[in-house]
Amino acid sequence: MTLIKRAEFDPALSSFVANPNARQELSFSDGAEKSISAMGMKTAKQCVSKWDGYQVTSLTPLPGLAKELRISSLVYKDEGSRFGLGSFKALGGAYAVYQLLSRMITQATGIEGINSTDLKNGIYAEQIKDVTVSSATDGNHGRSVAWGAQQFGCNCVIYIHAEVSHGRLVALEEQGATVVRVDGNYDQSVHVCAEQSDSNGWHVVSDTSYEGYKEVPTNVMEGYSILASEIVDQVNLLPPTHVFVQGGVGGLAAAVNAAFWQAWETERPLFYIVEPDLAPCIYKSVEDQAPTNVDVETETIMAGLSCGEISLVAWDVLAQGANGAIVIPDSFVGPTMRLLAEGCANDTAIVAGESAVAGLAGLIVARGSETLSKLLQLDVNSRVVVIGSEGATDVDIYRQLVGELADKVLS
Ligand SMILES: Cc1ncc(COP(=O)(O)O)c(C=O)c1O
Repeated sequence: MTLIKRAEFDPALSSFVANPNARQELSFSDGAEKSISAMGMKTAKQCVSKWDGYQVTSLTPLPGLAKELRISSLVYKDEGSRFGLGSFKALGGAYAVYQLLSRMITQATGIEGINSTDLKNGIYAEQIKDVTVSSATDGNHGRSVAWGAQQFGCNCVIYIHAEVSHGRLVALEEQGATVVRVDGNYDQSVHVCAEQSDSNGWHVVSDTSYEGYKEVPTNVMEGYSILASEIVDQVNLLPPTHVFVQGGVGGLAAAVNAAFWQAWETERPLFYIVEPDLAPCIYKSVEDQAPTNVDVETETIMAGLSCGEISLVAWDVLAQGANGAIVIPDSFVGPTMRLLAEGCANDTAIVAGESAVAGLAGLIVARGSETLSKLLQLDVNSRVVVIGSEGATDVDIYRQLVGELADKVLS
């Protein structure tokens, strides 16, 4: 039986900012729908759920941990098995590649409604064999784009920054991508990718949006929304009261927020975003009430969350849809991964990667402080969802942080 070691989650090491502009009373159509539409989310689900290997990922109840945290219930959406790619990102990048290719084919041939099965079966091979898609990544998004390109038969170039681990580079090459390592951090790799793609005539499939570039990242978020729509079905009639989800550029958070907003309207759960204190662009944006970038000077171990520039489409949703943001230090990550691996009381053991556990760590630190619990309206009646956004996407880093092989934890 593992109990949380309180000293490892010192509330003094984290900060919370409430969103003064959160609008719980707004309907979906007056709020998030302006950025991510119900039709877009539905189309993504209809398409991706037909792909080979699609399976609803598990929503694992953690009653032991819920008891320890003095809340009514806690469930963990485990994205580690998604399409065999290790993270929720499998839903977004590959779907955006499909959407991009289908728009290009329609433009070239006038044929509407290109379906992904025909694309996979090579019906349009002639039209796409010279197309190259590109992206910057800290690992997971690029893997999804490369996988999509491989499935649909186009070329793929992926940019990674100086700190992306060797294990993650190898995983990208295994999906058939040409991988280019650039100096600097994630945000710099985004800029290099945009410049070089422009001069080479490649098509950027980015998970982050900026001025003048919104269509593709919106498709990416529509893909992510599938996991939230699965949660809506899995919890059935009893919506959660709280969601804690980690943020990089904010795409995952905005997609989950929008899908819950659509499903539960004004009864939707309170929504909190958790970020590394080394890359707090969403936290700062909530504080400033405007999209705000930060310089990432030191890389966090939460590699997928190491982003200093918030996605504009994501901000459009979160500006009114998020109730607040929390930053946490890297020191919370290992203990949270170990807690899940060991299981609290008789909880199921879960393999969660470094970027998967930030949401849960945010919940743990909030329950360790009466003040924070009050601010977040957490109490013994709370029913909380956390999104386990990746499994052990780098097995060596996993072993270093947990002290055990991921396979052993699962067995
Ligand atoms: C495992 C994991 N979780 C969460 C995120 C954050 O997603 P977003 O950048 O859309 O906020 C990422 C991003 O790469 C990730 O890889």
